[in-house]
Amino acid sequence: MPDAEKILTLGIESSCDETAAAVLRGGRELLSNVISTQIPVHRKFGGVVPEIASRRHIVNVMPVIDEALRTAGVALADIGQVAVTYGPGLVGALLVGVSAAKALAFARNVPLVGVNHLEGHIFANFLSHKGLVPPFMALVVSGGHTALIHMRDYNHFSLMGQTRDDAAGEAFDKVARVMGLPYPGGPEIDRLAAEGDEDAIDFPCALREKGNYEFSFSGLKSAVLNYLNEMKMKRVELNKADVAASFQKAVIEVLVQKSLEALAEAKLDTLVLAGGVAANSALERRLREAAEAHGIRFYFPSKILCTDNAAMIACRGYYQSQAGLFADLRLNAVPGLSLSDVEA
Ligand code: KG4
Ligand code: ZN
Repeated sequence: MPDAEKILTLGIESSCDETAAAVLRGGRELLSNVISTQIPVHRKFGGVVPEIASRRHIVNVMPVIDEALRTAGVALADIGQVAVTYGPGLVGALLVGVSAAKALAFARNVPLVGVNHLEGHIFANFLSHKGLVPPFMALVVSGGHTALIHMRDYNHFSLMGQTRDDAAGEAFDKVARVMGLPYPGGPEIDRLAAEGDEDAIDFPCALREKGNYEFSFSGLKSAVLNYLNEMKMKRVELNKADVAASFQKAVIEVLVQKSLEALAEAKLDTLVLAGGVAANSALERRLREAAEAHGIRFYFPSKILCTDNAAMIACRGYYQSQAGLFADLRLNAVPGLSLSDVEA
């Protein structure tokens, strides 16, 4: 067994519409990070088509792994362990990565680590910020999840609260879709919002009462849809930038408020942002400003590590391996894997 500082972890990610592989040395030195996105394929359908995603993963998985090894300048024989996302995500998509990882781990006789995708998103921050260590509060905002997680140390988490219905990214995507913007809608709304007036329309967001760390975005989504319909019926010309900015403000306000309250309740002074929506420029700015005003250290990953990638999976896998948390060859995809399943 190579020593912990030098061990090479091959990370594999295929939970949704990105086939990704990465090579990590030790816990935080990224040697390669290859992402093959299927976004252009799914765009014409306005969202991810699970069956198409699985088929694309099958075609892409080995070439992506080969490229990750080549870019890192290492051979498969140098890999000390394989870490793979086993949930949450699309079952057919997950199975491709899990099967590839099991085959490689078996063939090379190296340990296998099963990684929770959401935990991976949080661990992206360790790659962007070498000095970051737990404890901290993590705000995970992705296409599938919105959650506040108290990270006690590398392997002990507690869930403060999560969304009851739509995830923040899902709300961005659905609102964008009805506004006729291409998939994925998050980056489109982000761009459009920069030209709009965020105070133009008052879209309320639910569950604002203090001490409640759950989120709900489906009411906000409906409020935007109702507004769009009303404007259409009245034949009023729509200012899409104002709608985007006002919707985005409503999402951001609730995320900032609950993050600050959760930090105070858990008596923490460090906030870590994670997940695809972390790429949102206004969210990052607002959280940074709020953190500064409250004396809180604030971290978020570099843009390429915000959305789905395998570097974050390799990093999470490394810290699991350090705690002896390995999987065996019976590892299966768990599409509904939740954070509470891994709470320690
Ligand atoms: O983490 P991720 O890549 O996949 C999941 O695990 O779900 O997140 C994808 C989500 C999509 O909903 C996408 O619209 C959103 O992240 N997203 C953004 C931005 N970039 C990606 N949302 C708002 N602003 C952005 N700049
Ligand atoms: Zn993700």
